[in-house]
Amino acid sequence: MEILNTIAEMRARVRAQMLAQTRAAIRATPTRAPAGLGLVPTMGALHAGHLSLVSAARNDCDLVAVSIFVNPTQFAPNEDFARYPRTFDADCALLEDAGVDLIFAPSVEEMYPRTTPDGPTGAGTSVLVEGVSDRLDGASRPGHFRGVTTVVSKLFNIVAPDRAYFGQKDAAQVAVLRQMVRDLNFDLELVVCPIVRDSDGLALSSRNQYLSAEQRSQALILRRALLRVESLVAAGESATATLLAEARAVLNQEPAIRLDYLAAVDPDTLLDVSTIHKTTLVAIAAYAGPTRLIDNILLGPR
Ligand code: PAF
Repeated sequence: MEILNTIAEMRARVRAQMLAQTRAAIRATPTRAPAGLGLVPTMGALHAGHLSLVSAARNDCDLVAVSIFVNPTQFAPNEDFARYPRTFDADCALLEDAGVDLIFAPSVEEMYPRTTPDGPTGAGTSVLVEGVSDRLDGASRPGHFRGVTTVVSKLFNIVAPDRAYFGQKDAAQVAVLRQMVRDLNFDLELVVCPIVRDSDGLALSSRNQYLSAEQRSQALILRRALLRVESLVAAGESATATLLAEARAVLNQEPAIRLDYLAAVDPDTLLDVSTIHKTTLVAIAAYAGPTRLIDNILLGPR
């Protein structure tokens, strides 16, 4: 496994490794089509959710790259950029074990050199997916998705992957990135992997480290609310007003959990739907103390 810190080095290694890897694969099985390069973009503080993305990439691709970059442009000034967990050495050990080929770990200055006096980062250009970026997490965290789409576009341009892997836990991020890939004709497949949970049902997140034992147990109410919705849908309920009212009633059982949003939406547009007649995303964001947690479930016909 190699760790690269500059864009130039990363580009050079990706090219050289792709060539070597593809040649070796063709030599081993001449009839097999090259399986390409997979990229798993992360902000580090890796857990089993990230490793499930790496494992999917390892299954699909000849070469697997993981980026580790805590991207300042997707954090608002009042958010946790400074205290976001940074566990680089432990992350590298996990990725080595998982069979990753390349780690791209640039500095903030490498990704955002101050080339112009304009814009918050000194770069005059950003990528914004109109509309969908303002819904769900985008409504609660103005500017967040502009930061995500800008950095992910940069990563796509630097690494040029054939496939890029993201987690379904960040359902709104998935909707925004899908739209971006379509709109900007990125020549790659976006692969979305299922949510990974702890044995008690809490969706894994790097931010779970912020929770006290009490908050962590209170946070389980998010999953319980989603399971209540799932069981009502299985019993035939399809009106989202009823489903959301039931979910809210469950969430109210844990008054320490402060709801940010609870919504039933189309998973692509993130616009509200009134009945579950096609695949519907039911998504929750809520605060346990100062920590914002998200979780979701996909319901209805797939
Ligand atoms: O999901 C994340 O960890 C981040 O939003 C991403 C995609 C790595 C961009 O910084």
